[in-house]
Amino acid sequence: MKKILHILRRESAQAKPYWEDFSYETADEGATVATALASTPVVWEHSCLQRRCGACAMVINRIPALACNTRLSEIASDVIRLEPLRKFPVIEDLLVDRSVMMQNLRRLSVWMEEEARTGSEEMAFEAARCLQCGLCLEVCPNFAAGGTFAGMAAMAPMSRLIARLSEGERKRIARDYKKGVYSGCGKSLACRDICPAQLPIEDLLVKSNAAAVWNRWKGVMKQN
Ligand code: SF4
Ligand code: FES
Repeated sequence: MKKILHILRRESAQAKPYWEDFSYETADEGATVATALASTPVVWEHSCLQRRCGACAMVINRIPALACNTRLSEIASDVIRLEPLRKFPVIEDLLVDRSVMMQNLRRLSVWMEEEARTGSEEMAFEAARCLQCGLCLEVCPNFAAGGTFAGMAAMAPMSRLIARLSEGERKRIARDYKKGVYSGCGKSLACRDICPAQLPIEDLLVKSNAAAVWNRWKGVMKQN
């Protein structure tokens, strides 16, 4: 199997971007875009290489995806176009600065100040599978770095808290959820189809909205 990696490169955030091609050949049917990238001098981010950390998120043939989760054999074209995520500032080549996601979690106070109570374990478990990869933000028509709307990358950890909150913390999370997630979401659900962790985004959204916006906490809490 032979592929050409057609990569949008840039030496620094200020430098002019340019395209460069790299040829990659392998007999390994399991080889991924990440495997091929490892043979190039291109700068990109990765860690687990097992679809667990979300670090290798990029745009592959115009579709946001994880490089380590995209097999070369599943790409029909001989040329594979690789670009950095577009919603985040580029640092170099395919490496982007996604720190805005952590800033949003801080801004929305996504932490527990009191000991967790037993709530919906299933909802908490599903929400905890979020990789913080940012692919949902890439396809979201309403998310812009620096904006008020923090997108599904914040909704997932917030719904985890909502599922486990003690009564004392409900008002705080409801206020921040309404401001940072509910009021900015246009319900396009583009995030639902792109999420590499296959989070049940619609279900989490409906339950979190019911609890934090419509004050139906009992419905979320009694689902164990
Ligand atoms: S919700 Fe899915 S796409 Fe969004 S950051 Fe979490 S794992 Fe990635
Ligand atoms: S390197 Fe961890 S998800 Fe790809």
